[in-house]
Amino acid sequence: MKKAISPSILSADFSRLGDEIRAVAAAGADYIHIDVMDGHFVPNITIGPLIVEAARRATDVPLDVHLMIENADAYIDAFARAGSTILTVHAETGYHLQRTLQVIRDRGMKPAVALNPATPLSVIEYVLDDVDMILLMTVNPGFGGQKFIPAMLHKIRRLRDMLDSLDYDIAIEVDGGIVVDNIKEVRAAGADMFVSGSGIFKTPDYGQTISQMKSLIA
Ligand code: DX5
Ligand code: ZN
Repeated sequence: MKKAISPSILSADFSRLGDEIRAVAAAGADYIHIDVMDGHFVPNITIGPLIVEAARRATDVPLDVHLMIENADAYIDAFARAGSTILTVHAETGYHLQRTLQVIRDRGMKPAVALNPATPLSVIEYVLDDVDMILLMTVNPGFGGQKFIPAMLHKIRRLRDMLDSLDYDIAIEVDGGIVVDNIKEVRAAGADMFVSGSGIFKTPDYGQTISQMKSLIA
């Protein structure tokens, strides 16, 4: 799972979603990032398992599914059936994070936990055995095209130190405001996996953007 570019389809042209997915796959995307929003946990509504299942049919690239929803437990089976590879839930929702992560693994997906910018790293201290990836939000979730929050560089460094000192091989994914111009600095702070929506889909040449990003994180 290490060192990867995961284009977020939130900024894709949904009237041509299959083509957009195939285009970033051909351009070297390591994952396809899919943002699921319910209008409760975040102030926006996007898509559900139906689109994940359609994305699964459009490409063989693994699907990195980011749930920004309340009551995620009720939808784990649906996202497993839809073909999710990684299933990320937010630590701020739900009462029994460790159980939720275990169910995700039990259903054959890679479990991951996401933290909002203001959420302290301490909330994941006792679930490190249960995750393959930790997603640090570098903007407040809900919309594409926002600016990277600079204080998150420090948070990434602290998480990297925490994982290294405890000897955990867990990928750190960053999500929000990642563009060609800052990806190198974010990589230097210790991130492994880079979600980018507008930073890829709003550029004219996906292939050029993704290969530039890959060389900057190499
Ligand atoms: C925001 C989503 C992101 C979003 C990132 O809530 O989780 O995945 O698509 O978009 P950019 O890269 O444009 O900030
Ligand atoms: Zn996301």
